[in-house]
Amino acid sequence: MPSTEWWRSAAIYQVYVRSFADGNGDGTGDLAGVRSRLPYLADLGVDALWFTPWYLSPLADGGYDVADYRTVDPAFGSLREAELLIAEARGLGLRCIVDIVPNHVSDQHEWFKAALAAGPGSPERELFHFRPHSPEPPNDWVSEFGGVPWSRTDDGEWYLHLFAPEQPDLNWSHPKVRREHEDVLRFWFERGAAGVRIDSAALLAKADGLPPMDPDRPHPFHDRPELHDIYRSWRRIADEYGAALIGEIWLPDAERFARYLRPDELHTAFNFDFLSRPWDPAQLWESIDLTLSTHAPVGAPATWVLANHDVTRTVTRYGRAEDTGFAFERKRFGVPTDLELGTRRARAAALLTLALPGSLYLYQGEELGLPEADVPRDRIQDPMHARSGGVDPGRDGCRVPLPWDGGGGGDGGGGGASARSWLPVPPDWSRYTAERQVHDPGSMLSLYRTALRLRRSFGDAGPLRRLRADEPRVLSFARTCERDGTTWICLTNFGPDDTALPVGAELVLASGPLAPDGRLPQDTSAWLRA
Ligand code: GLC
Repeated sequence: MPSTEWWRSAAIYQVYVRSFADGNGDGTGDLAGVRSRLPYLADLGVDALWFTPWYLSPLADGGYDVADYRTVDPAFGSLREAELLIAEARGLGLRCIVDIVPNHVSDQHEWFKAALAAGPGSPERELFHFRPHSPEPPNDWVSEFGGVPWSRTDDGEWYLHLFAPEQPDLNWSHPKVRREHEDVLRFWFERGAAGVRIDSAALLAKADGLPPMDPDRPHPFHDRPELHDIYRSWRRIADEYGAALIGEIWLPDAERFARYLRPDELHTAFNFDFLSRPWDPAQLWESIDLTLSTHAPVGAPATWVLANHDVTRTVTRYGRAEDTGFAFERKRFGVPTDLELGTRRARAAALLTLALPGSLYLYQGEELGLPEADVPRDRIQDPMHARSGGVDPGRDGCRVPLPWDGGGGGDGGGGGASARSWLPVPPDWSRYTAERQVHDPGSMLSLYRTALRLRRSFGDAGPLRRLRADEPRVLSFARTCERDGTTWICLTNFGPDDTALPVGAELVLASGPLAPDGRLPQDTSAWLRA
């Protein structure tokens, strides 16, 4: 595969900048922190880094409320530092992907401030979706964060925000909105970004007139046909720079999802179907099969994601008897969780996922086996919590600063002398520190490092062939490397009975100990070479 098509099989690490590493000890992660940890990321064995928004932002939605796309928020560093970071990472073989949030801006963005100042009927307001004063909101749409997606301005007009009120939606039928985003893409590609992750990529376009919801008509703001033309124009720009476009597309219909991946549109998109499935072989196989069969006709690689900054951490969700917390909007307080079970399954899931054909996303802290943290209610900052009337804990539990070294816990963001971190680190996280795991061969970090290193030798291997399809509690497949003729086999046993490893193949890695008779126990995966 040509190196220009790196995105087809890359392992991509998601850096949630605010919580990754705190370089100046003020309690918030920053670019200095990321730069100091680049060797860690290179040693981990990933190929690229995706940074969640680092732009100027009041942080009403963790930076997904952007006030200026061309400025790095001073809390994180400076534009110069971002450029240095991109160059230093590249020097270590790591490509950088930046996050673009085209659906909305911050209410502190110059455009929105100008629109408020200019008043009703002004051309400035045409860049957004303003509607005249009326007693009721202009339509019956529901916010992605719950509740009414309309707020009033001081002059009585309504404006649309599919997320928080601090995130006014842009009007994508306005040519200035399109031009501005094309410029922003160039701005970051010129600075060395190897790709962009496109936030809420299926929401930008709205039906003319913002009509009410009608089950008999196409959705007024989700997966609109107009989007494809926007992404075709983005693709032309990306191709000039050899950069990749990665869509955040939550779309249950796999065929419609694949339409965004036609050769002249996005390069890849997050496969949330896989992430939404419970720990069950039939379910996971169904998702793998569906993913591969819908991606093949458009020639796009699949992507595999177990976690991100919006969903419950893998160790926790796999440790719950009840399947809750998979999707964005379904987190809950106080769900009983067996972390030992969740960890065993997360280890098995890591090997299963890393063996699949396509690109892979790893969310910071997954490699440390971090569970979802219980953030005390009075420290929760995610707007989803308040907008749910306090019922939904929100997404902060998966956004707690990484424990790097030392005590690991407390408010200090992973030991060391630092100010109270922006979210408290649970006291018992000392056992998860990177420092503690790096020399422990049995740790989650060691498993990921070994698996990612091995994956480099077969990540671009041929298509998957299912094995042992008649055994309902086993999920196994093989892929052959054209280069050297080696066949890699991945086998996951969902139990309860131990299962035999294939004869004549060499065991290369297992997610847990084998049974005394050499069989593979429940909730364990193995990689073999033949
Ligand atoms: C995406 C982001 C999420 C954010 C939302 C609004 O889904 O992943 O964190 O809140 O978009 O920008």
